[in-house]
Amino acid sequence: MTVMIAQADGVMTLTLSRLDKKNALSAQMYQQLSQALQQASADPQCRVVLLTGGPDCFCAGNDLADFLAGGSLNHEHPTVQFLHVLSQFDKPLIAAVAGLAIGIGTTALLHCDLVYATADARFQMPFTSLGLCPEAASSLLLPKLVGYQRAAQYLLLGEAFDGGQAHQMGLVNEVVAAADLLALARQKARQLAALPAAAVQQSKRLLKQPLQQQIQHVLHQELAEFEQLLHSEECKTALKRFFQR
Ligand code: COA
Repeated sequence: MTVMIAQADGVMTLTLSRLDKKNALSAQMYQQLSQALQQASADPQCRVVLLTGGPDCFCAGNDLADFLAGGSLNHEHPTVQFLHVLSQFDKPLIAAVAGLAIGIGTTALLHCDLVYATADARFQMPFTSLGLCPEAASSLLLPKLVGYQRAAQYLLLGEAFDGGQAHQMGLVNEVVAAADLLALARQKARQLAALPAAAVQQSKRLLKQPLQQQIQHVLHQELAEFEQLLHSEECKTALKRFFQR
């Protein structure tokens, strides 16, 4: 299993467990994550989901070998399915981020309700240097969160930022020492799980509702552009360069 799933005290914990590849997300991992979120949504015993990569590394983004393999980003594609499930997930989703959070490792956080990170976490969305464009509705959600110019700094230039900067811009709720990261995220998850479930879920729905239609529209638009760019020579060259290092 490359995603470990555990459930206790109303909290489902999803731990990315592919550390030899820095938790880069394979098609199988996207499937596991989508299934787990769907299961969490349907299970009344599950009140909150906690997503983490453990104390060392969150996620190095999409598996670049899968990008290189190509294929159509249609509705059945595991990444596309995950983006739809994630963006419409109806229970609180908490992320605990240590180390790398690259590509979708950062953009997925825009769909989380609470994010805790270590000071030395390294966030980056290097889409353009790979010949690609933003995904996960980040072209909508990031400028809304940080303002246009800063979004351009991170989505056009692809500059990296750390946990402190992520906290300042509102992407991260709290910066915490690596040794305390999971304990704090679990404590917040249990705290949410102990609240009246209907009230929490209805509150999340109200918070998310104003942007929901736009998010689905932008997800779709981004994927169409992304798929075209995946087939470009510039993208193929950048991906090959990564594996030839
Ligand atoms: N897809 C596939 N494999 C990946 C990966 C990814 N996104 N990120 C890391 N890996 C693999 C490496 O190929 C390497 O595998 P190997 O040991 O079989 O050669 C292993 O994970 C360790 O990575 P390595 O590059 O040696 O670690 P590092 O600490 O020097 O660098 C990163 C870490 C994340 C900075 C670097 O791996 C990287 O730039 N990865 C790509 C990130 C990315 O562009 N993601 C997609 C954004 S859209």
